[in-house]
Amino acid sequence: MRIVSGIQPTGNLHLGNYLGAIRNWVAMQDEVSASGGQCLFFLADLHAISMPHDPAVLTASTREMVAALVACGVDPDRSILFNQAQVPAHAELQWLLNGTARMGWLNRMTQWKDKAGKNREGASVALFTYPVLQAADVLLYQATHVPVGEDQKQHLELARDIAQKFNNDFASEEAPVFTLPDPIIPPDAARIMSLRDGTAKMSKSDPSDMSRINLTDDADTIMKKVKKAKTDPEPLPSEPKGLGDRAEAANLVGIYAALTGSSVEQVLRDFGGEGFGKFKPALGEVLVERLAPINARFVELKGDGEALDAILAKGAWKAREIAIPTLDAAYKALGLVRL
Ligand code: TYM
Repeated sequence: MRIVSGIQPTGNLHLGNYLGAIRNWVAMQDEVSASGGQCLFFLADLHAISMPHDPAVLTASTREMVAALVACGVDPDRSILFNQAQVPAHAELQWLLNGTARMGWLNRMTQWKDKAGKNREGASVALFTYPVLQAADVLLYQATHVPVGEDQKQHLELARDIAQKFNNDFASEEAPVFTLPDPIIPPDAARIMSLRDGTAKMSKSDPSDMSRINLTDDADTIMKKVKKAKTDPEPLPSEPKGLGDRAEAANLVGIYAALTGSSVEQVLRDFGGEGFGKFKPALGEVLVERLAPINARFVELKGDGEALDAILAKGAWKAREIAIPTLDAAYKALGLVRL
């Protein structure tokens, strides 16, 4: 079993990243290292340049994201933690896969459509070919499983399509070059929504900081954001079907369930009939209780830039070793001469 997943080092790690992905990374790290498998977690810094960015901010955010991941429980001694930019095989394999990926496939990606918006002519080429780099990220390591939130599902289906076409076109059935990876999407919390709009996902790129809970927010900020979160005037229902068309209420109940390890049914058994005046402070308290230890560890770690750089350097060294055989096999399969 080989687990591979990534996160862009742009902005803060937020509750959506944590509940949708990072929490699973940590759980899988414990499971996989006990059974002799391997986990590779990386900062998708090459993906981060697909949108306009400030180089100094990217450098600082990269180190902060390492600190945040370690604070969440990613253990650099058991998992391989690195950034793409220090493992050139990612960019090399992307180029090789560009020959296999089809324009039509990329044109159908919803993230491309959302992020490019109406200004396709002005979008970067990197934004368009972004999913091919994402395919390279996982195929390079023969990933068997990729833990992600719901929003990355389509990109992983594309990675499978690319792997399959490459294997069909350039390898034999008995000796495929790439493994087809399976996404692992949590049954709950796969899509945490904005606190200001229950129809938009919680995102680092939302201009309003009030729309998300950052893992680095202090207790006062968390309580304030929960108190101001958009809701409706109705009390909570006592069964999940009563949340049907109440996106904001469903989101807050889902967050509460995910943080306490209980089910939506159970939360509604406890809070059904109560108004948000009672539910919001309870949710705020759970958030503060869960996030305070992460926050404290983050503050401790982020002061030591050298230690964070050392984690990335060591992780990159290990990642390069694993990547080389697959990269070599891909060059060879394509008939490219390298003496
Ligand atoms: P990114 O940086 O946007 O998000 C990192 C992880 O967090 C999940 N996530 C969410 N889950 C639930 N609710 C939300 N509101 C929410 N927002 C984010 C994402 O699904 C993701 O798992 N393209 C990827 C990074 C990447 C990658 C990869 C991931 C690059 N290469 C290879 C897996 C494998 C991205 O931008 O994630």
